[in-house]
Amino acid sequence: MIKRLPEELIKIISSGQIAYSPKAVLKELLENALDSNPLKVKVDISSPLSFSVSDDGEGIRYRELPLAVERFATSKVNSLEDIKNLKTYGFRGEALYAISQHCRLTIKSRHAQEEVGGILKVEGGKIKEHRPYPFSKGTKVEVNDLFFNAPVRRRSLSKREKGRMVSLSRLYAAANPEVEFLICRERFYRSSLKERVFRVFGKEFKFVQGERVKLFYSREFSSVRQLFLNRRPVVVPEVEEILSQNRLKSYLLFIEVEPSVVDFNISPTKERVLIEDDSLFEEVRELLKEEFSLPKVLVFKESSKVNYYSPIELIGTDGTVIVAHDHENFYFFDQHLVHERVNYEELLKLLKEGKLKRVNLVPPLLVEAEVKEKLKELGALFREEGSKLVVEAIPEILEVEDLKNLKEETVDSIASRACKRAIKAGYRVVNVEQLKELFEKYLCCKEREVCPHGRPIYYKLEKKKVYREIGRKL
Ligand SMILES: Nc1ncnc2c1ncn2[C@@H]1O[C@H](COP(=O)(O)OP(=O)(O)O)[C@@H](O)[C@H]1O
Ligand SMILES: [Mg+2]
Repeated sequence: MIKRLPEELIKIISSGQIAYSPKAVLKELLENALDSNPLKVKVDISSPLSFSVSDDGEGIRYRELPLAVERFATSKVNSLEDIKNLKTYGFRGEALYAISQHCRLTIKSRHAQEEVGGILKVEGGKIKEHRPYPFSKGTKVEVNDLFFNAPVRRRSLSKREKGRMVSLSRLYAAANPEVEFLICRERFYRSSLKERVFRVFGKEFKFVQGERVKLFYSREFSSVRQLFLNRRPVVVPEVEEILSQNRLKSYLLFIEVEPSVVDFNISPTKERVLIEDDSLFEEVRELLKEEFSLPKVLVFKESSKVNYYSPIELIGTDGTVIVAHDHENFYFFDQHLVHERVNYEELLKLLKEGKLKRVNLVPPLLVEAEVKEKLKELGALFREEGSKLVVEAIPEILEVEDLKNLKEETVDSIASRACKRAIKAGYRVVNVEQLKELFEKYLCCKEREVCPHGRPIYYKLEKKKVYREIGRKL
């Protein structure tokens, strides 16, 4: 229920600084949509002055629509205690009020428990229309003519504002992977955090995690630097300092903590936050130390012939490169690529044997009957309906997109694309037994020269050459 906050609380949290840029307005709409427990959120940006955010969340009760745009009215907190244990983005009940002062605002909504929805139109803070309106469950908030009554703000808009708004939406998409996002025309399906980040920011990121922190980073390319605290994009100078000491060019750091140790209320835009728990900084420091200290070297002390048939003997690994030798050569294997090759071939085998877990398609996918055999081979579950097939479930590594060209594409190319996508999973070799096991599997692979993406897996150096260089005869 939306209620006006008590006066004492208003004094503590009121910020008065919300609708100062289109990006800031969009941020509030996004946070409101995400607070409504949606499965889907859609962002449309015609221009920085005219955009909308829709969700299929709880919706707003018809009679509460005017309250939503009233100052200090919120359904998210009642007391100071609630603010200390905040689980939602919003808590001030100020955003829609402030936004409605500066644009033509339309809210269409239907509450989950109501039959008909409602529409509310507000212009420059004045309610112009409030009437029943048929609407699907959820809420759409449309901002039009932003700053129509603030010409200076309107004129001072940067050309890059739309880009910033899209970037902001993508940050929220990254932090909320269990919500499907449609940002302008870019769609992100529901997935794990890791998959979502790779989708939004590219697969080049490395990933490590501790107990409460998940870090995606790159030391090679600069694209994004962002910290999230309980999914909120925030600025915490202490943490940024730690990250910059480690010379990370790009990072996305996701931290989850008890809401009670964070104060989101110290700056009006909620960006700068205070964390009371020092052990959290320690955890970030430790994680980076582990990741960037010299790798632990695993060395075989006794003979490590991988198997009876292979002449190759393992020497060890520094965590990145596996060193091995036979009579003629030293071999340097990229440990990650060895792993990818092994994972890829194992996954492909499981897929073709129909042994992978399946996920249900909601809604199901309709395809032509002629692709029946291909669907079977890919391990999809389907039923026949007239001249069509209704695909109800597919192996979890496949995506609906993969089946779009089923008629033209071969099963092999679809399977291999899905497997390539899925093998990025993290790994760690922590002892020589694991290394040996990994290498044994690798030697059983059908293809050993290149990784599934086509990069050579190893580099070899003739022993003769090495010995000559150091003045030793074979
Ligand atoms: N997309 C939405 N879905 C459901 N309820 C919403 C949505 N947007 C706004 N509301 C309702 O309007 C109220 C006021 O929103 P807002 O001014 O942003 O304040 P706050 O988010 O701090 O509560 C919210 O508390 C919520 O009840
Ligand atoms: Mg809000």
